[in-house]
Amino acid sequence: ELPFAESYKIKMVEPIRKSTREERERWIKKANYNLFNLKSNQVFIDLLTDSGTGAMSDRQWASMMLGDESYAGASSYYNLKQAIKNILGFDYFLPTHQGRAAENVLFSALVSEGNVVPGNTHFDTTKGHIEFRKASAIDCTIDEAFDTTVLHPFKGNIDLNKLEAVYLKYPKEQIPCTIVTVTCNSSGGQPVSMENLREVYELSKKYGIRVIFDSARFAENAYFIKTREEGYADKTIKDIVAEMYTYADGMTMSSKKDAIVNMGGFIALREEELFKKAAQFNIIYEGYITYGGMSGRDMNALAQGLDEGTEFDYLETRIKQVAYLGQKLKEFGVPVQEPFGGHAIFVDAKRFLPHLPVEQYVAQTLAIELYKEAGVRGVEIGTLLADRDPVTRENRYPKLELLRLAIPRRVYTNNHMDVIAVALKNVYDRREEIKMGYQIVNEAPILRHFTVELAPC
Ligand code: F0G
Repeated sequence: ELPFAESYKIKMVEPIRKSTREERERWIKKANYNLFNLKSNQVFIDLLTDSGTGAMSDRQWASMMLGDESYAGASSYYNLKQAIKNILGFDYFLPTHQGRAAENVLFSALVSEGNVVPGNTHFDTTKGHIEFRKASAIDCTIDEAFDTTVLHPFKGNIDLNKLEAVYLKYPKEQIPCTIVTVTCNSSGGQPVSMENLREVYELSKKYGIRVIFDSARFAENAYFIKTREEGYADKTIKDIVAEMYTYADGMTMSSKKDAIVNMGGFIALREEELFKKAAQFNIIYEGYITYGGMSGRDMNALAQGLDEGTEFDYLETRIKQVAYLGQKLKEFGVPVQEPFGGHAIFVDAKRFLPHLPVEQYVAQTLAIELYKEAGVRGVEIGTLLADRDPVTRENRYPKLELLRLAIPRRVYTNNHMDVIAVALKNVYDRREEIKMGYQIVNEAPILRHFTVELAPC
């Protein structure tokens, strides 16, 4: 059998620059030990996020030239509407400038003070938009998701008992929707099985609760259903996606992930009433309903990206690259979340640096060490991100302290993956020399991780 190779070749390149350890130590100190404050030219391999960082295809760039910039009724809007109907099956949709904008618009129409919104671990902007409205997000993820050593094929699944307990505890008027995040970013890019999607939908219908998919990585989720769930091996990704969305009443989308564009988002719905209500907020916050914060050219590229992003060959290339990095790290003994996620490898920082107390921001400490080692920028998914309890203002210590290494789509080669793996191995080999973490010097009241300022303890 021939070895595996990428399902595309490269037509345009962007130079990146290496730096010295001395330079990086100076830069990270100046950035107040917050990797968001680094300039991109101070980074060699950028794994901060897979969001908006992908490489568009020649067809996407070509479709941009056909963008229609009419204020109302642009052909690009209708292209996108058709792609959403064909691939996801929704009749109503609203373009927004990105995923959190979709959340803002939809939750303005849906969520109010005192509401509860259950789901698998909500992404931070989703949770932020819920809590900003004085409502609360309830995490109903299965327990297996919180142990990085347990091998469960669908760690994004919702525990039906936990979900039903919420449905029994609160009146349905207080639960505007349940949100299923596919794949579940916060628990490690972990997929939700088709069986679980179906069961969640059926249970929710029994209690009269709407189901919304937070869909940023829906195609990667479909890839895992195809490769891991019985009965789906011979189905196309598009068939699987179509079935997935029969178990949703609506969706929010950050198109910057699985639709492989640099900016964009949307809401798609089945209910006309809710669509009309949300459309009002779209006009106030985003723009007229046929562009909603997006250029016509960008809607065209998004329509094309939805089609490419749901092709098996592309997804196989993508997810195998993530697994390639995961496997290397595993071979070096570096503790990582298993099974490997779709868009990222998550390093278990508590197992990596067991001698550091959680009060010293363990995953952030590891992120800083990796940057100093090789100019590789990952991101903390731990206590900084989990933020403070909105009521008590105490730090919320999540079960996991993770360093996320998010892999941009169609951007880096496996040589880059080798550099990342060896860099992390070097840090691992000297882990006992890392005796102290960091403390907060300054922080914002909400979504603090973006701007937090730190100092060594
Ligand atoms: N939902 C999920 C599951 C996400 O991962 C993100 C963004 C959003 C919603 C918000 O979308 O960024 O377009 O406003 N995740 C990025 C990340 C930022 O790095 O994981 P957005």
